Amino acid sequence: MTADDDEGFKALTDRISRGAGLTLDAYKDKCLRRRLLVRMRACGAHTYAQYAAVLDERPGEWEKLQDALTINVTRFYRNPETWNRLRDGLLPGLLEARQGRLRAWSAGCSSGEEPYSLAMLCCDIAATEGQPAWAQRVRIAATDIDRESLARAAAARYPRASFVEAPDWMTERYCEAVGDAWQVRASVRRLVTVQRLDLTRDTFPASTYDLIFCRNVVIYFDRPTQERLFAQFADALSPGGLLVLGKVETLLGPARECLTLVDARERIFRRAA
Ligand SMILES: C[S@@+](CC[C@H](N)C(=O)[O-])C[C@H]1O[C@@H](n2cnc3c(N)ncnc32)[C@H](O)[C@@H]1O
Repeated sequence: MTADDDEGFKALTDRISRGAGLTLDAYKDKCLRRRLLVRMRACGAHTYAQYAAVLDERPGEWEKLQDALTINVTRFYRNPETWNRLRDGLLPGLLEARQGRLRAWSAGCSSGEEPYSLAMLCCDIAATEGQPAWAQRVRIAATDIDRESLARAAAARYPRASFVEAPDWMTERYCEAVGDAWQVRASVRRLVTVQRLDLTRDTFPASTYDLIFCRNVVIYFDRPTQERLFAQFADALSPGGLLVLGKVETLLGPARECLTLVDARERIFRRAA
């Protein structure tokens, strides 16, 4: 990589930070370069400066760039072992202790499959435990930086392929078939609030959560940003509350002092009671 490339890269990322409202400082350099290259190739741009010119000329390119920078892949019940661990051991206890008043947050929820999976699981546990009232009290905040994903989350209508990893009861009990798609039922949707939030920049909601999911999001962030986020999550958890990370993510920094490992394989941590 030449000095020119570095300068061009810096000029372009500064520009994107201003134009797209993304705080790129927090994203890993290598990751950013790889993603930018995808868009540059797609536009036939050979240098960062040429790609900056494309951004000037084609307004639609801004959206494509944002999509490339924030990968939105997700599914219902993604990594079923993690959900099964929650269902079989951890979540029923939390729901019982709070008599259903569970406060949860899916941070980096993409198009909503994760928060709705959690909402359905809570409803199912409430039904199994003979406590249907619990399901009415659960509240789940679903946040992401990407407006398009959030619009899909708010619509809550998904292709059948989104459920490949999910148990059948999810669609049978909590969705309605609409053509080729599944529409999440209103009784589940009302437990979930969808909202835009940039984890690298915005202040956190001033709430306390019993459960925070932040899966497959921080892998794109540099280490200082990850450490800061984990510390903020630890602060936002209620005593005994759980943090669930993605399967390839590692808890780093000061948060390790107040969060204890519950399940190493499933990357589940608990705040001391
Ligand atoms: C791979 S998806 C993860 C979805 C879900 N948590 C899962 O594991 O299935 C990563 C999400 O992180 C979001 N994201 C990336 N940077 C973000 C930021 N700075 N603040 C909030 N969300 C961000 C992306 O928009 C994307 O929807």
